[in-house]
Amino acid sequence: MKNQALRESRVMVALQSIESGRTKTTTSDWKQALPVLTGSMVTLRELRISDATSLLAMLSTEEVARFISPPPTTVEGFERFIAWTQRERAAGNYACFAVVPHGMNTAIGIFQVRQLEPGFGTAEWGFAIGSAFWGTGVFMDSARMVIDFAFDTIGTHRLEARAAILNGRGNGALRKIGAMQEGILRKSFLRNGEYLDQALWTILDEDWKQHRVVWGARIH
Ligand SMILES: CC(C)(COP(=O)(O)OP(=O)(O)OC[C@H]1O[C@@H](n2cnc3c(N)ncnc32)[C@H](O)[C@@H]1OP(=O)(O)O)[C@@H](O)C(=O)NCCC(=O)NCCS
Repeated sequence: MKNQALRESRVMVALQSIESGRTKTTTSDWKQALPVLTGSMVTLRELRISDATSLLAMLSTEEVARFISPPPTTVEGFERFIAWTQRERAAGNYACFAVVPHGMNTAIGIFQVRQLEPGFGTAEWGFAIGSAFWGTGVFMDSARMVIDFAFDTIGTHRLEARAAILNGRGNGALRKIGAMQEGILRKSFLRNGEYLDQALWTILDEDWKQHRVVWGARIH
């Protein structure tokens, strides 16, 4: 049971510069409950047990699960995963947002952020969205809010992501959001009995702020 919970806890963890002199504080509020973040296309909120059915439908398809750690295969498995995400959030180790498009109530994907060191100075993020929503802008809308959350609320300064080299969309999405490819992690991800190479992508908080300025300039 414990092993199963642990395995499910690793689900989809495909999973994933400090301004000099700046002191970062980690707010504890998000550990009580994740904030609700509203974008132009989606709302990000804490996962609910009732999301299990839709997440099973969205994330267990072959095209979604191909390059990520195997998702649960049952509604009960997703329920256990969701309960685990809430415990890990309360412990301050991890945050998992449900992606809910405007006009819907159910989750069509998830964005995860986990600490790579105590205090979240470095963190890793990962994401999966139902394929019906690929190429719609849902990824970019969600990703911007999750990255803001990591840098502004959690106090991360370096956000890492790993994507299997063969995962064209995963790498394309990370490039598009402004992540930098730092290198290749050779044979670092076991999938279907085969070790795959992964690209390591990173975003630093100072780069992200620069990015936001550029976006702001474009918008206004
Ligand atoms: C990763 C994921 C969330 C991205 O969402 P998405 O809606 O597909 O992403 P977008 O369409 O906004 O961006 C993907 C980009 O990669 C590009 N792309 C697609 N296939 C590509 C390929 N084979 N090689 C390079 N780039 C590719 C797309 O053209 C797009 O760029 P564009 O908008 O400039 O045209 C989604 O594909 C997904 O859930 N995949 C399954 C789970 C997964 O692999 N997670 C990532 C683990 S790192």
